[in-house]
Amino acid sequence: MPATIVIGAQWGDEGKGKITNLLAQDADMVVRYQGGNNAGHTIVIGDEVFALSLVPSGVIYPEVTPVIGNGCVIDPKVLLDEMDTLQERGIDPSGVRISANAHVIMPYHRKLDAIRERFLGRNQIGTTKRGIGPAYLDKYGRVGIRVQDLYDPRIFRDKLEGSLREKNQLLTRVYNQLPFDAAEIAAEYLEYAARLEPFVADTSLLVWGAIDEGKNVVFEGAQGVLLDIDHGTYPFVTSSNPISGGALTGTGVGPGDIDAVLGVAKAYISRVGSGPFPTELDDEVGEAMVSVGGEYGTVTGRRRRCGWLDAVALAYTVRVGGITELALMKLDVLSQFSTLRIATEYRAGGETFAEFPRQQRVLYECEPVYEDHKGWGEDVSSVRDFADLPPAAQEYVRRVEEVAGVPIRLVSVGPDRAATFEVPR
Ligand code: GDP
Ligand code: IMO
Ligand code: MG
Repeated sequence: MPATIVIGAQWGDEGKGKITNLLAQDADMVVRYQGGNNAGHTIVIGDEVFALSLVPSGVIYPEVTPVIGNGCVIDPKVLLDEMDTLQERGIDPSGVRISANAHVIMPYHRKLDAIRERFLGRNQIGTTKRGIGPAYLDKYGRVGIRVQDLYDPRIFRDKLEGSLREKNQLLTRVYNQLPFDAAEIAAEYLEYAARLEPFVADTSLLVWGAIDEGKNVVFEGAQGVLLDIDHGTYPFVTSSNPISGGALTGTGVGPGDIDAVLGVAKAYISRVGSGPFPTELDDEVGEAMVSVGGEYGTVTGRRRRCGWLDAVALAYTVRVGGITELALMKLDVLSQFSTLRIATEYRAGGETFAEFPRQQRVLYECEPVYEDHKGWGEDVSSVRDFADLPPAAQEYVRRVEEVAGVPIRLVSVGPDRAATFEVPR
């Protein structure tokens, strides 16, 4: 596994944190490449639970270098708080490395995120309100502030004042809000900068060096392919590229450096926030998935919408995500059902769609076509070997493999790191 990209194959919260952490046991480096503290990755090791939002999931191993790549957006206060919390829990975060090219989330980004959502009314995206979208908007508008700018106070103040000239007009005249004060923000951020300075690095050189030396590097995706700004259910997406291609632009390595792309998918599917969701269940089955699966957001605490596994979407995310193998998560949550369903096609307006539809309207209007599978009727959370899974559970895993079009390498049957096993080939 010299260089493996771990990505979400659904709408996020698939269990990427658990899988990344598992791979990190044998890794030298774990690299985040997009997103920011909109992500929430939960890691369970025995009685210990770690909820990480920005620091890569490899941080808990002293021999792993956790890297935050150029494709990420960093809220410095959140990062410092997370590092402090880790320190208090006996984990040394001093190995964290932050790209000098990563963009910084500013207070006005958080404000604009919340206020734009309010203005969207019933069309709101349901963002995490962490300032992610507005920070990427500034990045692509070429008016963003990068980590390195914080170490050149004259340039930093200049950029900040320039940015606020426009943002304050927007905030006061369009959104009827109070303006931000440049000097106040500068003072606050220069303090963060001083604390973060030891961690700032040329991360593309670091990652390249590790790969060049044949070390094990795990790229930890945030969100999921269906939340990708290009390939997801736009506009109900995040403002970055969770697909495997994002790991290249987000860190500065080339496609030839990558050995595998491990997609992470639940044995069912969930989504937080607004947007189309063909297999969503508004009934007691969906409710049972939420309660048994503990489907509440790590970042915002929001209830996740749940539904049956969508094979049309999974085949699509495998394709555009460049996924070469899968980890199938939360199989234990399905033990409670006597019948399991997998959507293999969509039907809308007299047409049948075997491929993820080009026209998004179909996702709202369609009826999923389901195939039914017999449940296994027993708890599988203590299974540690594929051969010990009940036959119906083995068949379910094999069927998912078939519809996804790539091998399932790992199956997960509980939150704990140990509740995982490989699938024989
Ligand atoms: P991520 O955002 O992809 O890293 O996923 P999250 O951590 O936000 O959400 C996944 C949740 O499911 C976490 O609370 C995990 O502890 C939990 N989890 C992961 N794998 C399993 C599993 O196989 N079974 C169960 N029951 N829970 C799991
Ligand atoms: P992890 O890494 C699930 C969703 C939000 C919203 C949309 C845009 O834990 O899988 P944003 O704040 O990014 O502008 O919100 O994306 N979203 C996530 N959903 N898991 C996540 O991350 C998410 N990060 C963002 O709910 O619908
Ligand atoms: Mg999450």
